[in-house]
Amino acid sequence: MNYNRTVLLESDKVKIENYLEDLSIDFIRKEIITGLTLTDKYISSKFFYNETGSKLFETITHLTEYYPTRIERGILRKISPDFMSKFKNIDIIELGSGDCSKIKILLNSILPQNISSIRYIPIDISWSTLKKSAKELTILFPDLNIKGLVADFFSQLNIIPSENKRLFLFLGSTLGNFTENNIINFLSQLSSIMHTNDLFLLGIDLAKETSVLNQAYNDEKGITAQFNKNILNAINSIIGSDFNINNYKHQAFFNKKKSQIEMYLISTKDQIIRTPFHSKPIQIKKDESIHTENSYKFSINKIKQISAQTKLKINEIFFDKKKWFALILFSKKINSS
Ligand code: SAH
Ligand code: AVI
Repeated sequence: MNYNRTVLLESDKVKIENYLEDLSIDFIRKEIITGLTLTDKYISSKFFYNETGSKLFETITHLTEYYPTRIERGILRKISPDFMSKFKNIDIIELGSGDCSKIKILLNSILPQNISSIRYIPIDISWSTLKKSAKELTILFPDLNIKGLVADFFSQLNIIPSENKRLFLFLGSTLGNFTENNIINFLSQLSSIMHTNDLFLLGIDLAKETSVLNQAYNDEKGITAQFNKNILNAINSIIGSDFNINNYKHQAFFNKKKSQIEMYLISTKDQIIRTPFHSKPIQIKKDESIHTENSYKFSINKIKQISAQTKLKINEIFFDKKKWFALILFSKKINSS
């Protein structure tokens, strides 16, 4: 995450623009400090993705216990030849694109003569990830046009180009990291900016056995623990605070009633955190928790119920054999303005 950079990258086929600087840094600091001064302390999961956090997440996607990436990639490989080969002259917009490993699968099924007619528009809050993955993609697909947008997909959907037909991608079940109200709000916003010939492919992780879920967020190597703790380093660099990650324990468990993984950092001692952006020191007691992430595990009924409140219409649903993950293809309801 970089809230100060202006110019990013520009070459013949690739351009990366930063829109984070349009967001007020004061507002972001206030958002963080408000969360830390509530009785139930909270940090938004979007702050995980500084350079280290993005690398740690990429490592998580290769862990045996973390099944979602592996399974979603399998479904993408299966549907890609049929689904992608028809596309030309379109913009593919990927929200929270990360390491771009999934778009590689999809682009492999575009006819080689049509690649130069495709514009890939990855949107991610992490500048380092976007730069690295754009470079990798240009090596694999030298004719592909790339317009990367470093931006907050939740509050900046208005920056998405709209002159061409678009395929929106929101993969990895990142939608599950939103609260239910924000899921409805986000899908409503997205369906409002969609045109009737646009498509939207959404990846969602489905509810399953508790032990499988608990293992996925408590891996043996402790990478998820590092990822969770690193959010405090990310926060330190934004609000100038003095969190010491060694004073916290990782906690993640499946809350069956809410159908979500909940992730927390538990303070191992009484401590006082200072930041120049808040006059009072922040007190954190031994065993007190800071909530860092929810990862909602969907059912198909739930997504039907949610999308019914938006302008989205389900066209098709793709599953893996075990029905652990789903890819849902939406279009915009006709007659919804
Ligand atoms: N889609 C990829 C990455 C998922 S990780 C995959 O399926 O593997 C979530 C990604 O969303 C990260 O790359 C993170 O930097 C990005 N992200 C998280 N919150 C964001 C926000 N508010 N705006 C833009 N990108 C965000
Ligand atoms: C990005 N997001 C969908 C991941 C998830 O599974 O909720 C983030 C993550 N947190 C811990 N492990 C992975």
